[in-house]
Amino acid sequence: MTAPHRRPLIAGNWKMNGTLKEAADLVNALVKDLGSPSHEVIVAPPFTALTVVGELLKKSPIKLSAQDMHWENSGAFTGEVSGAMLKDAGCHAVILGHSERRRMFGDTDGVVQKKLKAALAQKLVPIVCIGETLEERESQRTFKVLETQVKGALTGFAPSDLSTVVLAYEPVWAIGTGKTATPDQAQEAHLFVRKQVAGLYGDALAQGMRILYGGSVTPENVDTLMAQPDVDGALVGGASLKPIGFLRIVNFKSPAAH
Ligand code: PGA
Repeated sequence: MTAPHRRPLIAGNWKMNGTLKEAADLVNALVKDLGSPSHEVIVAPPFTALTVVGELLKKSPIKLSAQDMHWENSGAFTGEVSGAMLKDAGCHAVILGHSERRRMFGDTDGVVQKKLKAALAQKLVPIVCIGETLEERESQRTFKVLETQVKGALTGFAPSDLSTVVLAYEPVWAIGTGKTATPDQAQEAHLFVRKQVAGLYGDALAQGMRILYGGSVTPENVDTLMAQPDVDGALVGGASLKPIGFLRIVNFKSPAAH
């Protein structure tokens, strides 16, 4: 059970999927059947669909997120999109440091930290992703990796700067693989991450910070994951592309559901 002061957040990361029509169909289906959820719900379409989806979300509690951003506001950065542009396009949040960005596009902890600073300056809610690879887990380096990633991204702020930050623990071996961390593995990692945040910025910030789990979250496993005390929500990839399944995840049931 998530602590009562941390509102559960379910975020759908659509990755590089969806024509404008597909994006509109998906979001319309979500809006139609969502009702008024007690949890916070976010969708992150690709850049091209942000404004279309944003328009369709205008009267809905679902909030809009981007999947990445550049740390400068504007300039000669071909192919990049800035936080200022995301804000202008109606974004509420932005995903930063996703493992696909880290692995394929060179996002280091230092880059993630710069993006985080720029996102906060734009008053975007940052969803900062961290997580170990299979090799790191198998060689008992999970905690070391998480510590390095948390410190690398979050260093150099005042605690008050970070009050809106959301972390997402996404073990790389669980992303898109159908292999989910067990609830115990997720809880252990989330508690460790929360302690790292407490070590850096104190208990008050750490206790208020939401830590999402990501990696093959499905309608079948969301309830047991969300039953863990330090799992405050989910970052959902593949399963967020199917409205019925995503809505079931949004409406997860845990023994102490609110
Ligand atoms: P998945 O992706 O749910 O398809 O494993 C999660 C993510 O990458 O955020």
